[in-house]
Amino acid sequence: MGELHVLNHPLIQHKLTLLRDKRTGTKEFREIVGEIASLMCYEATRDLSTRAVTVETPIGMANTQVLDENVTVVPILRAGLGMVDPIIDLIPNAKVGHIGLFRDPDTHEPVKYYCKMPDDIASGKVIIVDPMLATGGSAAAAISFIKEYGCKSITLMDIIAAPEGIKVVKDNHPDVDIYVAAVDEKLNENAYIVPGLGDAGDRIFGTK
Ligand code: PRP
Ligand code: URA
Repeated sequence: MGELHVLNHPLIQHKLTLLRDKRTGTKEFREIVGEIASLMCYEATRDLSTRAVTVETPIGMANTQVLDENVTVVPILRAGLGMVDPIIDLIPNAKVGHIGLFRDPDTHEPVKYYCKMPDDIASGKVIIVDPMLATGGSAAAAISFIKEYGCKSITLMDIIAAPEGIKVVKDNHPDVDIYVAAVDEKLNENAYIVPGLGDAGDRIFGTK
């Protein structure tokens, strides 16, 4: 059974305040998205398997651990791209799969336009990343799609979530763990998160 983890660590909350501020410019916004992604990754990878190894230190032999689980990070394009590099910097040998989805501006339904996954994606843990979980349509569609590859261990990581989106993901994919930095109040009439941070993709890439 998946669980909802709200990561209200002071460092994450401080950085989230800067992200929400409409005066924060593109470069700083992108950097902070990356920093929050690193901090969230630390929590979301607590259950990764390790195996025992021995290494020789300058003083003696140390019995220690190394990671022993394949990890694929899957950004939902486009905004999810802003979270990838800091995560793969932390996880040696992590692979990256891409899913391109955009929300139809009228129906708010996700439309898929790109997909490329590693061949061995089903052999390990998948971490789907996207800064925003609004209606939950994009995340639920991405998870369904990844399950078609036979993946059993799927984690969803979003920076800000609306209660509506959390419910959609939980109802459709009760097995998936969800990590968020904040659960906001609601969606507005355009299915934007209130108060949220605006359009994450536009703020990361400077397209508006
Ligand atoms: C945003 C966001 C999510 C999606 C969330 O992407 O990055 O992928 O909306 O909304 P939902 O939960 O209602 O599906 P958008 O469609 O704006 O595309 P972009 O990343 O290319 O800007
Ligand atoms: N996508 C965004 O980028 N922001 C929202 O508030 C909702 C969807």
